[in-house]
Amino acid sequence: MSKILLIASQKGGVGKSTTAINISSVLANQGHDVLLVDSDRQASVSEWWAERKLHHPDKPKIACIQKYGELDDTLIDLRNRYEYVIVDVTGRDSEEMRSAMVVADILLTPVKASQVDINTLPNMCKIIKQSRVFNKRLLSYVFLSIAPSNPKINEIEQAKRTILDFSELQLLKTVVFDRKIYRDCMADGLAVTELNGRADSEISAKKEMLALVEEVLHGQI
Ligand SMILES: Nc1ncnc2c1ncn2[C@@H]1O[C@H](COP(=O)(O)OP(=O)(O)OP(=O)(O)O)[C@@H](O)[C@H]1O
Ligand SMILES: [Mg+2]
Repeated sequence: MSKILLIASQKGGVGKSTTAINISSVLANQGHDVLLVDSDRQASVSEWWAERKLHHPDKPKIACIQKYGELDDTLIDLRNRYEYVIVDVTGRDSEEMRSAMVVADILLTPVKASQVDINTLPNMCKIIKQSRVFNKRLLSYVFLSIAPSNPKINEIEQAKRTILDFSELQLLKTVVFDRKIYRDCMADGLAVTELNGRADSEISAKKEMLALVEEVLHGQI
């Protein structure tokens, strides 16, 4: 059964594009037919894709298109042609985000563990509620992204408690930590799961990305 996965938030720089490319790569490496829809004119996903195509032709193929404005009809059509359609939108309330949300199977919202970021969630919940009028089966998840790895900082637990109050967004167990390897991979056209290094941070990044995919797509962790 094909799925449209929309990755969206009303905050910029929270890891949407990073999540889109890493999830796409996990699925492509599992043998699935994946399409990335880049609906952000900033084009981070398209740039990553072009880099991948040029420098890593041996890696599993992922299709990629750019599409702006109303996305609903296009996404319905694309869902018939790919197993997974993964949509990356800009970091604010946009026509692209709203039109994708009325046809998506899953909405995934990364959020940083800071109050300013969490403050954008109530409005996101409002938009999810409106989308559910048309799209009753929409599943909506939120996860902590670019989280501080210093154990002395207890922002993660505080943020988790606050997020639990938003009934429209289900908080995932997986936390994606702040690791340089994500930035490097984005620049290199690769995903963290495609690296072969033995550094702790690389192994941890792989584990958290695989856990994220399991939790989002199969409800398991
Ligand atoms: N887990 C992470 N650890 C470290 N750096 C990260 C992580 N996730 C993303 N980044 C880096 O943070 C920056 C913002 O990430 P990204 O572009 O994925 O966010 P975004 O939400 O798509 O931003 P925008 O709203 O501008 O589209 C990038 O430089 C990216 O490489
Ligand atoms: Mg982005």
